[in-house]
Amino acid sequence: MPYLGMGTWLMGGRDTRDPADDGRASVEALTRGLNAGYRHIDTAEMYAGGFSEEIVGEAVAGFKRESLFLTSKVWKTHLHYDDVLRAAEDSLRRLRTDYLDLYLIHQVNEDVPIRETMRAMNRLVDEKIIRWIGVSNFAVERFEQAQGWADSKVAVNQVHYNLQVREVEKSGLLEYCQTHDVMLTAWRPLQKGMLAEEPPRCLMEVAQRYSLSPYQTALSWLTSQKNVVTITKAADPDHLLENMQATEVELASDALEYLRAEYPGQTDRSEAVPLR
Ligand SMILES: NC(=O)c1ccc[n+]([C@@H]2O[C@H](COP(=O)([O-])OP(=O)(O)OC[C@H]3O[C@@H](n4cnc5c(N)ncnc54)[C@H](OP(=O)(O)O)[C@@H]3O)[C@@H](O)[C@H]2O)c1
Repeated sequence: MPYLGMGTWLMGGRDTRDPADDGRASVEALTRGLNAGYRHIDTAEMYAGGFSEEIVGEAVAGFKRESLFLTSKVWKTHLHYDDVLRAAEDSLRRLRTDYLDLYLIHQVNEDVPIRETMRAMNRLVDEKIIRWIGVSNFAVERFEQAQGWADSKVAVNQVHYNLQVREVEKSGLLEYCQTHDVMLTAWRPLQKGMLAEEPPRCLMEVAQRYSLSPYQTALSWLTSQKNVVTITKAADPDHLLENMQATEVELASDALEYLRAEYPGQTDRSEAVPLR
């Protein structure tokens, strides 16, 4: 998986389409990113009520499909067997593709047995509609249950992780992924506003040591860790280019551990989507 991908949350709306947003600016931002070398785009059927996927479909139309890594997610209200199959077909249509590189269960729904959902995911793999199965916002125990019903490796868990939000560390999920060779994709790596004020001294020290910006350092802190990749959303083309350079640098373990210990304002639980 690419170390850094482009996120699409808020492109075209929130959980429904925003009629005031025609998607042009987002198509342009994604196209710029692809021209600059990004290969992974992360989207979901829930984003903008499917319109985000249409935006991605338009952005990728001129690129060779096999050069891209496309991730989408099935929403938690579509986890019954037939619903998963239908949701995947709808995503393919909106994305103008005939397969997904990665398909994630977006969030836990305790009302639908995980066995039933995984049966549908297995079929999607068999029919080559998806290459890899993944989940999102799953705690270790539930991840293991999902893997237990999967015929192939559950390759990814996409979770809220950044210098401030450390639930994956405290809960043991990061160590689990590293031990079992599961990729942990960190969403919201820049934790809105985290760096808007003056960046903390520890971050500036590491940034200076590696000649990185504070934003690049926050991203590199993630991607320098074993089995961790990330996705960030940037509408601003300068941000896209700046972020891309972050993954060219690998922080040494002393810098990683220094930031792990010293970064201020850490929390043990995601305020947005806690692990379940
Ligand atoms: N699985 C899940 O449950 C889940 C949940 C949330 C998000 N996600 C995925 O993860 C992706 C990333 O998370 P996110 O969009 O919430 O947050 P994020 O990527 O951490 O932050 C996005 C914000 O950071 C700004 N930014 C990016 N690079 C910057 C830079 N170099 N300098 C200054 N500002 C910069 C962007 O501004 P500009 O737009 O102005 O460039 C935007 O306002 C989402 O888009 C989505 O695909 C998944």
